[in-house]
Amino acid sequence: MDPAIQAGLEKAGLPGARRHLFVCIGPDCCATDAGEAVWVHIKQRLRETGLPAMRTKAACLRVCRGGPWLVVYPEGVWYGQVDAARFDRILHEHLLGGVPVAEWVAARNSLGGDAGGREAPPPGR
Ligand code: FES
Repeated sequence: MDPAIQAGLEKAGLPGARRHLFVCIGPDCCATDAGEAVWVHIKQRLRETGLPAMRTKAACLRVCRGGPWLVVYPEGVWYGQVDAARFDRILHEHLLGGVPVAEWVAARNSLGGDAGGREAPPPGR
């Protein structure tokens, strides 16, 4: 494989990743500054915790209301209105603890993956 591609995949965190987070930062589901603020917070918290998760900033997930949106794979859990405080609870209970924050789950679709009927185990297991 092209070494530059390999380096990019490693930089993206693909080897060893247990989850992939997609974050819509607006502009239609939320104000872009609010979306950017939560994106910066998410990046910081992921770095601090060392969680094996990839993250991708999206410009639109096609909901276009009730953002910023956070989608967590492999479970396919969609959270709306995510701010720093909400993300910290999602981080603690879902991403680290393995249990989605049910009261904030707006939708769920694992796209046929095997996490559809159960939660992914916490990192390190
Ligand atoms: S702008 Fe966020 S879902 Fe469309």
